[in-house]
Amino acid sequence: MFKIYKHFLKSTPDYLARYYWWAYLWKRSAWFFDHQPIINAILFGQYNKLMQQTMAELAKTDHHRVLQLTCVYGKLTPNLIHAISPTPLHITDISPVQLALANSKKNSEHELLNTRMNAEHLGYQSDVFSTVVLFFLLHEMPPEARAHTLSEAIRVLAPNGTLLITEYAELPKHHVLYRFFPTRWVTTKLEPFLNGFWHEHLPDVLQQQAKAQGKAVEQLTHTNIFKGFYRVTSFQVTSATHKD
Ligand SMILES: C[S@@+](CC[C@H](N)C(=O)[O-])C[C@H]1O[C@@H](n2cnc3c(N)ncnc32)[C@H](O)[C@@H]1O
Repeated sequence: MFKIYKHFLKSTPDYLARYYWWAYLWKRSAWFFDHQPIINAILFGQYNKLMQQTMAELAKTDHHRVLQLTCVYGKLTPNLIHAISPTPLHITDISPVQLALANSKKNSEHELLNTRMNAEHLGYQSDVFSTVVLFFLLHEMPPEARAHTLSEAIRVLAPNGTLLITEYAELPKHHVLYRFFPTRWVTTKLEPFLNGFWHEHLPDVLQQQAKAQGKAVEQLTHTNIFKGFYRVTSFQVTSATHKD
């Protein structure tokens, strides 16, 4: 049987083409999903709250060199650009369609530095960013891709840099959307790696990845959103020797 996703496999991670071609790799889907009401509905009406909390945490960080690790539908990128202006925002993604969309949201040539890379193997040098922002990327990845991406985020962060993660919370077993079987079923059908992500303890995974690089990670802030269905968490990355 003809498998549509194979058409999107060219230099794209297998999981992205296989499970998310319709969301991120197809031009028409980018047009469709990039409407604020649509992306807001996907996040159960919480997009603005999640973005505002992300921006509030970003305001506390060093804006010297900020990386948005992969593109996001909606207003997040223009808001990040505005918040750190006149410093340019670095953004990287594997999908040319998403990079073109991010580019279309900038007002001037110099405010967005746009590169095509796999988040699991970034081409940036180590210790170069002051802040790295991950907005709903991790739950879309299989565990190995997630671990590689976190390892890369830690690697490219300079000592005392901030990793800002906006994501689904850990297993929300008391939340109505989780307890109500139809919403849990639909969400985990559309997001095949979410269940694994729900069962992972992010601080432990980060610590493990940091340790392997002679670094350490300390949680700075944590905010539950939508009664603990989502979270916005910031971590500081230091060199392990600094921690001793
Ligand atoms: C940030 S995540 C989810 C964002 C969220 N659903 C939204 O748009 O509001 C989606 C982005 O991650 C990108 N992506 C996924 N895996 C990637 C990888 N391994 N390397 C680079 N980009 C990746 C996709 O191309 C897509 O643009």
